[in-house]
Amino acid sequence: MRIAILTSGGDAPGMNAAIRAIAVVGKSRGHEVFGIRDGYSGLLAGHWMDLDADATEGITRQGGTILGSSRCAEMTQPGGPERVLARLAELGAEGLVVIGGNGSLTGAHVLASKRQLKIVGLPASIDNDVGHAGLAIGVDTAVNTIVDACDRISDTARAHRRCFIVEVMGRNCGFLAMRAGIAAEADAILYGEASLDEAHVLARLERMLARCFAPGRHKKRALIVKSEGLPIPIMKLRGAVQEIVTRLAPGVDVRETVLGHVVRGGDPTALDRTIAQRLGFASIIALEKGLSDVMLGWEPPFGVGRETMDPSVRIIPLEEVLAETSRLLDGSSPVIKRRMELLAQVEEILPG
Ligand code: F6P
Repeated sequence: MRIAILTSGGDAPGMNAAIRAIAVVGKSRGHEVFGIRDGYSGLLAGHWMDLDADATEGITRQGGTILGSSRCAEMTQPGGPERVLARLAELGAEGLVVIGGNGSLTGAHVLASKRQLKIVGLPASIDNDVGHAGLAIGVDTAVNTIVDACDRISDTARAHRRCFIVEVMGRNCGFLAMRAGIAAEADAILYGEASLDEAHVLARLERMLARCFAPGRHKKRALIVKSEGLPIPIMKLRGAVQEIVTRLAPGVDVRETVLGHVVRGGDPTALDRTIAQRLGFASIIALEKGLSDVMLGWEPPFGVGRETMDPSVRIIPLEEVLAETSRLLDGSSPVIKRRMELLAQVEEILPG
């Protein structure tokens, strides 16, 4: 087969590991493998590159994507997918592996429904907001980056007895804030899925801060990890928290740090490389079996998807993936409900 690889949407650490695995495994099994440059936009412009052994050597450890990425508005416009398919036909592609998040996989599903070529999606997004993905490529690295940043911030916070609010990426998904917040011993974790209004958020923070700065306590720092999906601007939150802290512990300052794109870069962790390599390997096998319009998930919830020869990798139709993604984002998925219930239990036992 002639197989194209495309990375699209926000890049995620581990994309390169997936690209190399697909290229190396594909070639070793007699396929031609090439890379599309700059996502769907680059494809429309006909930009591609060869992925021979030299081009991919050493990229497993690199963040970002050597292919480049983009968010392509044309894919959602009338005629856009047809133009993309025409380009793929010109390039002689018989199979396509799309590595990306929600938008990218939605595009993959639209293209696959036209049945012109076989398309397999691999979930890659630091947000971990792709339905049934289990752990998407890039999430583990992003969590580790946030934990490292919070540890550093905690050092300086303790030196000055300060309260810090750290805002992390995740779009509308609080997964990064939740997982990293617990690992970094945060005193509070704020995320959009709880749908609390500002007054409720501040009341919760006041209860937590009252415990942190109770008379007789010598706690040196308070850490609030806020997901960007919580719709309260960070400076407004900082002002409101400063008012509370000044009442409870005069002289204690509040500071804010927005980690932003720092969370998206960096060398992928060993776990992200493993996930990327094993999903990449499975994508070649899936294409050889003639599968299309599917995504490969890493240890998705029990019972979801069809098994592969790899016990951690399962095959899930893209239609199911996208339906579950919508449920994750509107809070109706059992996965997000369980996540919030667990976190609520953890918050009960946070010492403050
Ligand atoms: O989806 C990945 C992500 O990094 C989100 O966490 C964030 O909201 C968004 O992309 C930022 O997008 P951009 O790089 O286009 O500013």
